[in-house]
Amino acid sequence: MITEIERIEALEAAKKLVASLSDESESSRSEANRVQSLKTANDVIRSLERPEDGLLKFAYSPTVWMAIRSCVHLDAFKIISEKETVSAGEIASLTGADETLIRRLLRVLTSYGYVAEKGDGVYAANKWTRHMDNRLTQGMIKFIYDLALPPTAVAPELFKETGFKNPVDPEAGTFQKAFNTKMPIFPWMALPENKDHWDAANTFFEGDRGSRPSWVTWFPIKEKLLSGSIDDQAPLLVDIAGGRGHDLMEFLDQFPDETGRFVLQDQPQVLDSATTLPAKVEKRPINFFKESPVEGAKVYFMKFIIHDYADPDCFTILRNVTASMKKGYSKLVINDFILPDTGCPILSAEWDLMMMVLLSAMERTETQWKSLLSAAGLTIEGMYQAPGDGQGIIVASL
Ligand SMILES: C[S@@+](CC[C@H](N)C(=O)[O-])C[C@H]1O[C@@H](n2cnc3c(N)ncnc32)[C@H](O)[C@@H]1O
Repeated sequence: MITEIERIEALEAAKKLVASLSDESESSRSEANRVQSLKTANDVIRSLERPEDGLLKFAYSPTVWMAIRSCVHLDAFKIISEKETVSAGEIASLTGADETLIRRLLRVLTSYGYVAEKGDGVYAANKWTRHMDNRLTQGMIKFIYDLALPPTAVAPELFKETGFKNPVDPEAGTFQKAFNTKMPIFPWMALPENKDHWDAANTFFEGDRGSRPSWVTWFPIKEKLLSGSIDDQAPLLVDIAGGRGHDLMEFLDQFPDETGRFVLQDQPQVLDSATTLPAKVEKRPINFFKESPVEGAKVYFMKFIIHDYADPDCFTILRNVTASMKKGYSKLVINDFILPDTGCPILSAEWDLMMMVLLSAMERTETQWKSLLSAAGLTIEGMYQAPGDGQGIIVASL
């Protein structure tokens, strides 16, 4: 039976939710409002859910992840997405898996609403199923399941062994403990025997912002970065460690008339796998620990790079970047989370721990960004929070 307190708390949260969704103004359709409404919807759930059940559901949730990963192995999301309805027996005969296993895996996914249930052992796709049939999503599922779960599992043990020190050593963290290696994750993934992990990771990076809006859609790029005289001979935008060039392509889609040189830099094998770049993008290999990016660009862009490292490695990278920057002209644009000191959104708080278990690295608060960048000899011109719970933008210069 629902208690009076539970009823009142749920009702209050539900009233707030209805009020925010009933508001027809422009701001009610903003990303910030969507994220706030989602938080309120979670408050409704938390007031109705009891800690005894909530904690058990949470404790057992790795089984959901296991079912998702297994269905990716079987290509079951594609099979379900391609037909109006499909039975467990059909999936079994198409994949060679046991029908009972299919039913058990899909039972947890239908209970979560990730696959629609149309009868006893009959399934249909919904928006979640189709999302899990997407190439980029599958890169994420493979990368996070295969490479982040083992380090997460051993993390409490490592904390205990190290006297609960915050992990900052990229060669002696949870990843190394879980995979019995001394190598940091990026060189480890570059080993020939890890090529499937490497491909999953780079596929994940192509879409790892989730649904959060790209900086090109909300940041006043022209006003803050491209005003004043531009040197036509120098690159306009250099994406340092830009993966397969997805962010550069978004920039060019948003500003198709922008002339100038556009440069994508990353490890050579990543650049080789960037096969859909427009002709105007130059590819330049780099090892950002050892080399500086191309010189004198107007904008050096780094997304999800600094968050991959603890401060000492960041200083090495930033020293190489600042060596190429032209004083009074070049700007460094960092597109990473800027964590609030209190009230951190769930996703960026989780992202921080993901950086910890994979890389002994971290997401940074505004204060941490300021001290890192000023110690690297940079002046922060502005810090801008993304709409909703996305990654912010930090603009810095020499
Ligand atoms: C987390 S991904 C970010 C990719 C892209 N900026 C994005 O946001 O999608 C990190 C990138 O750093 C690159 N990287 C790792 N170590 C590197 C190194 N020593 N030199 C150059 N790039 C490196 C990886 O290949 C990868 O593309």
